[in-house]
Amino acid sequence: MTSRILVMPGDGVGPEICREAVRVLDVLAHDHGLDIELDEALVGGAAVDSAGDPLPEDSLAAAREADAILFGAIGGPKWDSQPRDKRPESGLLRLRSELGLFANLRPAILYSQLAHASSLKKEIVAGLDIMIVRELTGGIYFGKPAGQGTTDAGRREAWNTMRYDEDEIVRIGRRAFEIARARGGRLCSVDKANVLDVSQLWRDVMNELATAYPDVELSHMYVDNAAMQLVRAPKQFDTIVTTNLFGDILSDTAAMLTGSIGMLPSASLDAAGCGMYEPVHGSAPDIAGQGVANPLATILSVAMMLRYTLERGDLADKVETAVGAVLDRGLRTRDIMDDETQVASTQEMGGAIVDMLR
Ligand code: NAD
Ligand code: IPM
Ligand code: MN
Repeated sequence: MTSRILVMPGDGVGPEICREAVRVLDVLAHDHGLDIELDEALVGGAAVDSAGDPLPEDSLAAAREADAILFGAIGGPKWDSQPRDKRPESGLLRLRSELGLFANLRPAILYSQLAHASSLKKEIVAGLDIMIVRELTGGIYFGKPAGQGTTDAGRREAWNTMRYDEDEIVRIGRRAFEIARARGGRLCSVDKANVLDVSQLWRDVMNELATAYPDVELSHMYVDNAAMQLVRAPKQFDTIVTTNLFGDILSDTAAMLTGSIGMLPSASLDAAGCGMYEPVHGSAPDIAGQGVANPLATILSVAMMLRYTLERGDLADKVETAVGAVLDRGLRTRDIMDDETQVASTQEMGGAIVDMLR
């Protein structure tokens, strides 16, 4: 059966990196029997410019129809002064929420060829393979009330609410326990239960769930310590489960362990495993349009799509192997360069992966 894939390139480097990921999908379709049909839709600032809305109706409708979405990145200084609901970021948040993509899987894996590019010492990161499971449709990103106003004394004020109900915690918790069970069998739940009521509920629910997963070792860590431990001794972690905001921050931290945020893919899944696949990084306005962005995070997101939605684990392995092989050849985009390697543009890197897959 033909799978419908919707490509949403977005802003900044989004279109540049998506172009390379689409070339990968094309070669898999052409040479390896992947049965797909591609469509494209506007999102983010590009959609604000052309339709006045960061997630126009027809883009959302196309996203609902698709079997999987490949998402580039959104945002940029051009749209930063728009009202909140017209900002590119709001389009992405609505998309995640409307599609029920509550489980965000963000693996941080160090390719051995890139140990030098990590900001940590080689022995601290060698062999790193952790999975951050981030709750994606709740918490302070979506809690009400949220807004800005003026106090009685005439001072400006603003507020957000960090809120979870137990069902939201149960569904992400179950997903995380299952992921941990299929990996190293250790799950670390990260919260701020020493201060926040919402974190105490989070911790209580994780403890209750643990009884159903006796083969998974559950531990808890406060988020401030977790941030420190990630840069002190990251290999102590196997699977991490945490809330929307903490997961956002910790996954960017984990990115640097792997050499560059340009290496980190992600999958955002709903209850049925349908999903959106996107690099962890943003639209990188500082390098957009220069053809230097690393497309590997997006290409590795295609591998996650193959594994989790298209059920072609064989092809996912091929893509990941191709990435390793291209790195072995010494090809590097600027963000992962060193003295002994050869600098490649976004397009050259994509082309090298495509050649490897032929
Ligand atoms: P960013 O991730 O875009 O960039 C941070 C740094 O990493 C920059 O120096 C950038 O050049 C570098 N970088 C990012 N991706 C790279 C790649 N593929 N190759 C090489 N270097 C790369 O984060 P930011 O600068 O904080 O945010 C820029 C914009 O992106 C903002 O509007 C923000 O809201 C948005 N954003 C979007 C997403 C998303 O679409 N999922 C994620 C994060 C940020
Ligand atoms: C991410 C981004 C988004 C988030 C923004 C752009 C809404 O930082 O995907 O990590 O905070 O979730
Ligand atoms: Mn982020």
